[in-house]
Amino acid sequence: MVDSVKQLLKAAQEAIAASTDARELDAARVQYLGKKGEITALLKSLGGMEPEERRDFGQAVNRAKSEVIDMVNARRAEIETEQMAVRLAEERVDVTLPGRGQARGGVHPITRAMQRIIEIFGHLGFEVATGPEVEDDYYNFESLNFPAHHPARAMHDTFYFGDGRLLRTHTSPVQIREMQKQGAPIRIIAPGKVYRSDYDQTHSPMFHQVEGLLVGEQVTMADLKGVLQTFVNAFFEADLDMRFRPSYFPFTEPSAEVDIAWHKDDGSDPGWLEILGCGMVHPNVLKACEVDSEQYIGYAFGMGVERLAMLRYGVTDLRQFFDNDLQFLRQFR
Ligand code: FA5
Ligand code: MG
Repeated sequence: MVDSVKQLLKAAQEAIAASTDARELDAARVQYLGKKGEITALLKSLGGMEPEERRDFGQAVNRAKSEVIDMVNARRAEIETEQMAVRLAEERVDVTLPGRGQARGGVHPITRAMQRIIEIFGHLGFEVATGPEVEDDYYNFESLNFPAHHPARAMHDTFYFGDGRLLRTHTSPVQIREMQKQGAPIRIIAPGKVYRSDYDQTHSPMFHQVEGLLVGEQVTMADLKGVLQTFVNAFFEADLDMRFRPSYFPFTEPSAEVDIAWHKDDGSDPGWLEILGCGMVHPNVLKACEVDSEQYIGYAFGMGVERLAMLRYGVTDLRQFFDNDLQFLRQFR
């Protein structure tokens, strides 16, 4: 009887060793240890045996059972190791290969134009200053010599918060904030976002301006013209038609606006596109910053970055810069 257990054990050992994957191994396990398995059947037969015989045989069968369990576990571990080795060989990852489908991003054309403007004025000795986008009436209007209820305020379609605060309509408030901080002489540019309730081919509700301010003891309008002409030549790297047109701003006197000849796609007559406003700083602005307007004089300008980018890149609708159309944006990579 005990010999038959030995034979069974040998057969089980062979079946287990021959199994090459988890499923075959499990079939072998069921064949011997399952509910209807061969070792299970031997254990069930113990009930009908003489006590003497049952003790020896029972011990042998139980030992065989635990050996088979150990063999199954050992083989399972082996199979897992083998399969892992196969996977590691097959699925080798070459970490030096470049990734698939990696699109290279690019700097947004407005950011690019902005960086270009900052660089050009940097060469001309202008330092960068910034101010908050949420302003109050004092900085956005009053200190810039807009009298209360003056119609010039209506030139800016302002977004108000209802508690006296507003979204700045231009970067000119930075003139005041910086001059109050630094006094005179001063030479700064102030790039940033500004907001107006405007929307058409050449206007968007959020756009970018770069403010310029230079205050010193001997500054003339000819200096202003010279610096702007130098800037335009450097920015466009081309000889574009440019004109100074007399204009009005409460914070400069005299004031002008600068237009650039604009050739539309449809070949119609070139129009003019306004790129900036400028002028000689009004004495009241200097006074608001406690700068002596007898001793100091200066010029200021505020340019529209989207307008400059339109002209440089040949874009005919300024709103395209903000549509987030990748086909459009990829052209500037
Ligand atoms: C001003 O904002 C003055 N602060 C500029 C200035 C500064 C004058 C310092 C004198 C001294 P204006 O509203 O014209 O001016 O706007 C300046 C430029 O911003 C315009 O020439 C135009 O290029 C651009 N711009 C104005 N509105 C929009 C808009 N809705 N969308 C895009 N660009 C605009
Ligand atoms: Mg204007």
